[in-house]
Amino acid sequence: MLVSAKDMLVKAKEGHYAVGQFNINNLEWTKSILLTAQELNSPVILGVSEGAGKYMTGFSTVAAMVREMDKNLGITVPVALHLDHGTYDGCYKCIEAGFTSIMFDGSHYDIDENVAKTTELVNVAHHLGLSIEAEVGSIGGEEDGVVGMGECADPDECKRIADLGVDMLAAGIGNIHGKYPEGWPGLRFDVLDAIQQKTGVMPLVLHGGTGIPADMIKKAITLGVSKINVNTECQLSFADATRKYVEAGKDLEGKGFDPRKLLAPGSDAIKATVKEKMELFGSVGKA
Ligand code: 13P
Repeated sequence: MLVSAKDMLVKAKEGHYAVGQFNINNLEWTKSILLTAQELNSPVILGVSEGAGKYMTGFSTVAAMVREMDKNLGITVPVALHLDHGTYDGCYKCIEAGFTSIMFDGSHYDIDENVAKTTELVNVAHHLGLSIEAEVGSIGGEEDGVVGMGECADPDECKRIADLGVDMLAAGIGNIHGKYPEGWPGLRFDVLDAIQQKTGVMPLVLHGGTGIPADMIKKAITLGVSKINVNTECQLSFADATRKYVEAGKDLEGKGFDPRKLLAPGSDAIKATVKEKMELFGSVGKA
């Protein structure tokens, strides 16, 4: 059931668990994530980066695929279709395409411009029933061409953006997209704590979910994180399972080259990763 992310995140914050955002790249990704959410009776957010949207030939293609797949698979758990790290123009394109949620990443603007653009997009999104995520303090690393320096967010700036009425707030707390480098010092819980104290009930978003140790994830949830984004980890599981299939020569046995067979181990691997994360985030049974 396609919905905005607002209610599921309010419930998650109150219930002290987090909803996973899993990024999608194609049909296999989407189907694997939807089926796992349904099986585990968990709410879920499908994240679409601008690069992935382009790859899938446009946001309207993505919205049509997700909407029809949701219906044809009989998905009853809440599913939000969310733009990940959206530009100002990208937000409008996703609104028009029928997404149910957007992220405006204004973290590379100065705070006044971030506030101005976020204010405008909050009004438009809410008028149309979409939820909206904003960002303060960039997430480190690179995701689909979006590069962040990884500075920690200023809690006062977080409060300014939270007060605009956004539904969820991404704040840099030492998190990084992609694999964490050797010697990464870990999440800045002092910064997260200060942000939560300033922003109160606002659901906070932890980007860069790949590779964050389970104890840090659990602690972040106790400090107000209600949405956790995972992208690279599904890609790694998919690639690993596909490599094993090919290296074992399975594509050369019978009709093992049939894409429905060739992509099956990778799809199952995505399902296993999503399940593991939903269990860790505590969203199982919370639909
Ligand atoms: P990872 O690729 O590190 O899991 O990060 C995903 C993310 O934050 C999407 O916005």
